[in-house]
Amino acid sequence: EESLHRIRALPKLELHLHIEGAAPPGFIRGLAQEKSIRLDRVFREDGSYAYGDFAEFLKVYEAATSVLTSPRDYARLTTAVLEQCAASGVIYAEAFLSPDFCGGGDLGAWREYLHAMREAAAEAERDMGVTLRGIVTCVRHFGPDKAKAAARCAAETADDWLCGFGMGGDENRGSQRDFAYAFDMAREAGLRLTTHAGEWRGPREVRDAVTDLRVERVGHGVRAAEDPALCEMLAETGVVLEVCPGSNVALGVYPDLRRHPINDLRARGVKVTVSTDDPPFFHTTMVQEYQNLALVFGWEEEEFRDLAKTTAEAAFCSADTRAALL
Ligand code: ADE
Ligand code: ZN
Repeated sequence: EESLHRIRALPKLELHLHIEGAAPPGFIRGLAQEKSIRLDRVFREDGSYAYGDFAEFLKVYEAATSVLTSPRDYARLTTAVLEQCAASGVIYAEAFLSPDFCGGGDLGAWREYLHAMREAAAEAERDMGVTLRGIVTCVRHFGPDKAKAAARCAAETADDWLCGFGMGGDENRGSQRDFAYAFDMAREAGLRLTTHAGEWRGPREVRDAVTDLRVERVGHGVRAAEDPALCEMLAETGVVLEVCPGSNVALGVYPDLRRHPINDLRARGVKVTVSTDDPPFFHTTMVQEYQNLALVFGWEEEEFRDLAKTTAEAAFCSADTRAALL
């Protein structure tokens, strides 16, 4: 269809993309074969990632990630991920990078992984016209001590490229406040902040993210839609939600896109952006996300133009880089 072709061509930006979660399954399988690592219960017969619920998803994510053991592996991963982004018309992406998976929180190792990813990203920018920036992410279910080590890595390598700090992982463990020290350290190093909240727990968690960690963006945040007063607060303070509709449906946060609150949030004046989270896990791409929004909610050029503007304004990169995107 004509309008779906136009959607494919639209320049897209995404702010919520886990680098390991964006690994094509064939890429992970290939590395496992090269290294003679056996991966049990990671793939289905058809080659896709095998998981049922969110807990299983996190286990499979970490099992797949276990084959990524060197800076060179992460350089190759970065190239593979950016090829997928470029194929969807993505011109700018921010990726979550984890010192926990890149050297286990050791600063010297982290520097080498980061260097490898940045080199690969620079090459992809030249060859494919897609700009990448990094957000160091800690993992909630690894606990506050690991988060501090990740924040230290982030603080030591913060610059124009490594511009944010965030947290993913199992939202059902502990509280946002347990990670305040790590987030304070990152903020003091000049990093911009985001955290996963309101994907699994309710509006209260989103409120905690904003008040306890003082983040300016929230990963997912969709369950804020259940609390009109919170939506009003988010709209007034300009907190930006990194909404990942395909992820939410694949993981069962909502039974289908029709029941997803992205349009309600937008109608309440909350700033929403759209990302893929872990695209091969959720059988999605940015083109797919856009097409779904067009088909289910009737989004057209105007909504997508508005989305791109909101996303560029919410990007954590330097003002110069941001200006080039608008
Ligand atoms: N890590 C990767 N994807 C995630 C998600 N959707 N929620 C929490 N942590 C994650
Ligand atoms: Zn995520």
